[in-house]
Amino acid sequence: MTDWLPSLIVKTPAEGYDLAVKLARVAIKVTQPDAEVRDRLRSDYAENASALVAVSQVIATHFATVSAANNFWRG
Ligand code: HEM
Repeated sequence: MTDWLPSLIVKTPAEGYDLAVKLARVAIKVTQPDAEVRDRLRSDYAENASALVAVSQVIATHFATVSAANNFWRG
């Protein structure tokens, strides 16, 4: 897990959002390293509205951090 995140600085808000999604997904991988288990659980959240809302909330939290790190792309 070393050096996969050299910087929080990204050029655009869209890249920042992609990074927020990546941060969220890495947390899942760290907490459940078994890919076979993740594959099995995928359908649980993919078809569960509340789980999807929770997913988007986690992404929103990371996006707030990335946005702040980039000074909200104010230039
Ligand atoms: C796929 C995000 C939680 C297992 C995906 C994809 C996204 C995503 C964007 C689609 C990737 C693509 O099609 O290119 C997230 C976020 C999560 C989260 C932001 C939490 C905040 C979880 C959890 C599991 C999981 C809890 C299972 C333990 C998977 C698997 C796939 C997947 C196995 C691959 C599905 C496929 O390739 O068909 N996830 N996910 N994810 N997610 Fe999650």
